[in-house]
Amino acid sequence: MEKAISFGQEHIFGFWDELCEDGKRGLLEQMREIDFDLMARLIAEHIKAESRKKFKGHLEPAPIIGLPQTKQEIRKHEEARRIGEAALRAGKVAALVVAGGQGTRLGFDHPKGAFPIGPVSGKSLFQIHAEKILALSRRFDAPISWYIMTSGTNDQETREFFQQNDFFGLGRGEVFFFQQGMLAAVDKKGKFLMDAKDRISTSPNGHGGTLLALGDSGALDDMRRRAVQEIYYFQVDNPLPRICDPAFVGFHLKAKADMSSKVLRKRDAEEKVGVVGILDGKTAVIEYSDLTKEDMYATLSDGSLKYSAGSIAIHMIDVDFVQRVLDVGFPLPYHPAEKKVPFIDETGRLHQPDKPNGTKFELFVFDALPLTKRSVTMETTREEFAPVKDAEGEDSPRTAKAAMTSLFASWLEGVGINVPRTEDGKSKFALEISPLFALDAEELAQKVDKNLTICGDLYLGK
Ligand code: UTP
Repeated sequence: MEKAISFGQEHIFGFWDELCEDGKRGLLEQMREIDFDLMARLIAEHIKAESRKKFKGHLEPAPIIGLPQTKQEIRKHEEARRIGEAALRAGKVAALVVAGGQGTRLGFDHPKGAFPIGPVSGKSLFQIHAEKILALSRRFDAPISWYIMTSGTNDQETREFFQQNDFFGLGRGEVFFFQQGMLAAVDKKGKFLMDAKDRISTSPNGHGGTLLALGDSGALDDMRRRAVQEIYYFQVDNPLPRICDPAFVGFHLKAKADMSSKVLRKRDAEEKVGVVGILDGKTAVIEYSDLTKEDMYATLSDGSLKYSAGSIAIHMIDVDFVQRVLDVGFPLPYHPAEKKVPFIDETGRLHQPDKPNGTKFELFVFDALPLTKRSVTMETTREEFAPVKDAEGEDSPRTAKAAMTSLFASWLEGVGINVPRTEDGKSKFALEISPLFALDAEELAQKVDKNLTICGDLYLGK
């Protein structure tokens, strides 16, 4: 109680006398979990001083390793691929997925990773990622540990989901769950919002919380014990990442980079993705909303966009670099975002606001990029990116399933199998290839019966 008073948050005990023992315990537990000093700093900097910081500085495009076209570029990619494969064979690379978000836009009442996305099988996002990791560890005959970041909102359900599904065939010792921190949501005066009489409204501290949580949870120590040196970072809601892509691993290692990024050429100036650039001499991701109109539309002499390197949240992160970021006091900024936060009023009545009434704070993982000494930016194709964000529309289950079908159609056609298509060029049938059947087009070519006829939805699996 005294702690709450000293931070001006005593209202959280407004209903104390009405609470049952469990409610009281829960509230005190939450108080222990919330970093009050940090919250006071964030409130002073962002709510009371109203200092929404926009980026300022000198921006230049980042050098990009483009898609290989010339013979020399193809040779370089092959060399990188060999370096990456050797690192994978030596067990130096772990996979890490961030799955702690609340998935509010999707409106799915379970962890987003449990969402069924296989266009034919209905397999969950988690299962598709798990099968890729299993297939990779078989291919490279080496364990590939998988670190899964959850949050207070979904940790237990995520663990249960894995248990119920027998870890999708992965060894239990290869999967490491760790939880990110939670922060309180505050109202316009900087007071913690309550979403029940015995509960402060909290939310995960953003995907940048990964770096803090790696240290706090012991995951970083676990990596060292396993002699893991590099982390392959991706997001749970994209079913298409080429997890542990050897070429990306290889370019990152060859450059002795601290943290690297995969990017897509932006479709057009207004595509809403952050861009990788060089800001005041340092690699950085400039958020879409922070890019000036002038930079957004700027073109090069060939007419292409000057700032075209769209970030797709796939990174390689060096384990020692994470430690360094922690050792220098974790200088990543917290970003305030105004949100609609359900809250109770002084009478205890719950409100569902229809416009933003509160602020949440989030860390972004790409804010570690300016701290790197070296960073690689590598281009990939859209075949690697189809995030599931909303229930309907552009980044939805429908578009992700269509992107999966389209990728598998191109693999099948690549080995000479006829894929029936509709007039607008889309595959007539849903197609799905389990990573356990083929991780890529080359593996498919070795395994598939070339006389296969497609006359309905197709699933190739084990
Ligand atoms: P998004 O920023 O798209 O958020 O996360 P979200 O939680 O999935 O969905 P909305 O915004 O509530 O609708 C991108 C990725 O980062 C992870 C998410 O789980 C997703 O894989 N993430 C996000 C975290 O792990 N923790 C966070 O605090 C935020």
